[in-house]
Parts: sequence; C-alpha cells; structure tokens
Amino acid sequence: MVGAAGRLGAALARAFADRDVVCHTRDSLDITDPDAVRRTVAAAAPGAILNCAAFNDVDGAEERAADALAVNALAVRGLARAAETCSAALVHFGTDFVFDGTATAPYDEEAAPSPRGTYALTKLIGEWFALDAPGSFVLRVESLFGAVPGWRGRRSTLEGIVEGLEQHREVKVFTDRVVSPSYVEDVARAARHLLDSRAQPGVYHCVNSGQATWYEVAQEAARLLGIRASVQPITLDQMPLKAPRPRFCALANRKLAEAGFTMPSWQDALRRCLESRTSRRHIQ
Ligand SMILES: NC(=O)c1ccc[n+]([C@@H]2O[C@H](COP(=O)([O-])OP(=O)(O)OC[C@H]3O[C@@H](n4cnc5c(N)ncnc54)[C@H](OP(=O)(O)O)[C@@H]3O)[C@@H](O)[C@H]2O)c1
Repeated sequence: MVGAAGRLGAALARAFADRDVVCHTRDSLDITDPDAVRRTVAAAAPGAILNCAAFNDVDGAEERAADALAVNALAVRGLARAAETCSAALVHFGTDFVFDGTATAPYDEEAAPSPRGTYALTKLIGEWFALDAPGSFVLRVESLFGAVPGWRGRRSTLEGIVEGLEQHREVKVFTDRVVSPSYVEDVARAARHLLDSRAQPGVYHCVNSGQATWYEVAQEAARLLGIRASVQPITLDQMPLKAPRPRFCALANRKLAEAGFTMPSWQDALRRCLESRTSRRHIQ
C-alpha cells in the first residue's frame, strides 16, 4: 500500500491488517519516483497495490498544477505499469470532482466526466492511467470522513462541522452542494470485497448511499450528538474559492451493488462514525 499515512490509507491499513500488507508512507516510498516504485513493487511482488496517496489540496492545485499532475496522474501511470509487470491488481481512488456538478440525479459510472479545475483534471487523468493496467479498480469516493484512532491529518469537512457544533459555535455550511459522503470504514470494506470476490476491474462509485446538502449533514450530525445546532446556511457564491466546486455530486453505486456489495446509507455511516468517536473519546 502507498499513501498509508493518509486518512483513507490509515483506515485501509487497519482494515487489511490481517493480510500480509506492506504499508508505505511518503517517507518510505515517494510515488513520483518511478525507479523507486518499480524496485519496491518488484521486490514485494504483491497480489495487489492499494494507492491511497494523492495531492488533495483542491485550491492549492490551481497554483501547483505540476505537483498535482505528478502525484495524481504521472505517479499512477508508474504504479499501473508496476502492477501490470507483476500481474497485481491496482486499487486506485478517484473523486466525484471528475463531474461538473450540473446533473440533477446521482451520477453512475457511465456518466461522462467533465472536470472543472486542476485537481479534478489531474485526478481524471490518473483514473485513465490506472485503467491502463488490466487488473485495475478505480473507486470514486467523495467527502471522506472517519479516521483511525489517533490519526492527525487534515481536518475533513465533517470534522469541522462537528467541532463547531460541540463548541457551540455558529457553523457555516453549504445549502447548494449536494454530496454523498464516504465513511472510510465502508470504503475499506468495499475495497476488500472487490478484491476478494475477484470482481470485474474498472471504475466503481464507492460512496455511502443517498444524498444530502452539507446543511442536511450538519443537521443530522447535530441531531445524533443531541446538540441544538446553530447552523448558518451559506451558498458557494458567498465563499471565494480558487478552484470551482461541483454543486451536485451525489454518486450512485450501481456497479458495487451489481458486484454484491451494498454501501450503507450516509446517515447510518455518520451514526457509526460518531458513536465510535464517542466510545474512543477521539474526534474523527
Ligand atoms: N478526502 C476526501 O474527501 C477525498 C474526496 C475525493 C477523493 N479522495 C481521494 O481519496 C484518496 C485518499 O484521500 P485521503 O483524504 O485519504 O488523502 P490524504 O489524507 O490527503 O492522504 C494522502 C497521502 O498521500 C501522501 N502523498 C502525497 N504525495 C505523495 C507522494 N509523492 N508519494 C507518496 N505519498 C504521497 C500524503 O503524504 P503527505 O501528508 O506527506 O503529503 C498523505 O499521507 C485520494 O486518492 C483522494 O484523491 C479524497
């Protein structure tokens, strides 16, 4: 696995802990170094490569396009080539941002991508490179939430909301961004299922089922936490962001369902996430 120190990487490392997994962080393997990738993969001869590494700074990518391209696209080409050489499966993670957000019903895997920003474009090119290897899975996730205990990385949108609610601050949330958030625990289980069931390689949407505006997610989080919410609705137009954000990005997990895996609803995932956080007294 590469990118094992990230939010999803750490969750996958835990979910696959019963397997013989070699976990690489950026310190032990920089995926933009193709020789190092080739050598490392050849030495390990894995049955599967899980790629959780990414350049995820959506706004920063507008000014650091070459860096985003190197990690999100060119490095994926290197991983795909290494996977093909040793006949390994490649599990790569994509994003809802490959869509322009103009749809009115959840995007399924057949929907045509139309990325609107540098991050989004680099992630789409990464998908294409990943799919060059015959055994590749591209799992499109969005608005990841949840983390392993003790994980200290970049705060997710949900963490920002929960923190604000618990501190009884006014929480500003978008009423015009529709999402299907993805709980890392469920994404990890879906990835295991696809590998274990020898599912057909290709692109899979992998989000918790259903859709909601961030406003609705915040209201549900407040209800589950038993907090009287002070949620201030805002719209994308009110927030100056460097990179465009798709407004409607609910995804439909059609192919995962056909492959025999049902993603729980986002409400169920949110409840489990908040419960595990309370039981561990750890902010996820
Ligand atoms: N987070 C979301 O809401 C979201 C939404 C849609 C799609 N996704 C996708 O889901 C996947 C996992 O995202 P995440 O949120 O778990 O990411 P994350 O927490 O940002 O972790 C990414 C990891 O990749 C590492 N990395 C960056 N450049 C690297 C390089 N050159 N070589 C090796 N490692 C490198 C980072 O290390 P450093 O910390 O040292 O930079 C970090 O540990 C990514 O493909 C992402 O694009 C995420």
